[in-house]
Amino acid sequence: MIRKCLFPAAGYGTRFLPATKAMPKEVMPIVNKPLIQYGVEEALEAGMHDIAIVTGRGKRALEDHFDVSYELEHQINGTDKEAYLADIRRLMDQCTFSYTRQKEMKGLGHAILTGETLIGREPFGVILADDLCDGNSDGVMAQMARIYAKYRCSVVAIEEVPQDQIEKYGVIAGSEIEDGLFMISDMVEKPSPEEAPSNLAIIGRYILTPDIFDILRETPPGRGGEIQITDALLTQAKRNMVLAYKFKGRRFDCGSVAGFIEATNYYYERMRDDG
Ligand code: G1P
Repeated sequence: MIRKCLFPAAGYGTRFLPATKAMPKEVMPIVNKPLIQYGVEEALEAGMHDIAIVTGRGKRALEDHFDVSYELEHQINGTDKEAYLADIRRLMDQCTFSYTRQKEMKGLGHAILTGETLIGREPFGVILADDLCDGNSDGVMAQMARIYAKYRCSVVAIEEVPQDQIEKYGVIAGSEIEDGLFMISDMVEKPSPEEAPSNLAIIGRYILTPDIFDILRETPPGRGGEIQITDALLTQAKRNMVLAYKFKGRRFDCGSVAGFIEATNYYYERMRDDG
């Protein structure tokens, strides 16, 4: 029912310098697959076939990754190496990819607003590729799409985080209306532990209704002088309803070196188990 998924991918990836000096952080691999490909697979599993990517300068490798590489394909055609391309070929067959560039880095809210031209007036998913999620039997975005189908409002994914981590996230407060599903009453972007309204942190998965674009246009810069999606969602929650969903599965913060290594070990083990 939701066809489109937006990937904000214009950031510099400074925490991974020098690796990200000439290479987008979104193509850094966990084992042998770029981070963004895991995200696109998750979107597709949720039925989102139209992939909209907000890029920036120096991100051409992203577009090339989701395109045919004639020379390479010609070289390995008919050999057993073709099997390595099976997953990415399937994505390319089943998805469309469109791109727009964010010219200035003015925050996640601004990146999402930049994507409006690719999304239009329909509900859409948002995946931050550096939050890598393994939903076990069911992808996190697919879980969220089911919540959207029932309630028809914006949905954010949340998880409990320890107090000393809370200031890295948007944090919600709300009332639990179903097991693991909260109606949001407050949201704060990167609060200090004292300011945090709970230990429920937003992770990089959203389903947004398109009125969010109008709200974002009116949202002043917030934390860090940037336009924050968290602030826009709080406005939406006050006008309407926004839900926070405690997803089932495991998430790795691949925006940090420690999380990246943890994910690498986890997926490597899994690959070995699968043979
Ligand atoms: C962004 C959001 C934040 C959210 C986080 C999830 O922050 O602004 O609300 O909790 O993603 O990863 P960033 O990590 O881009 O600083």
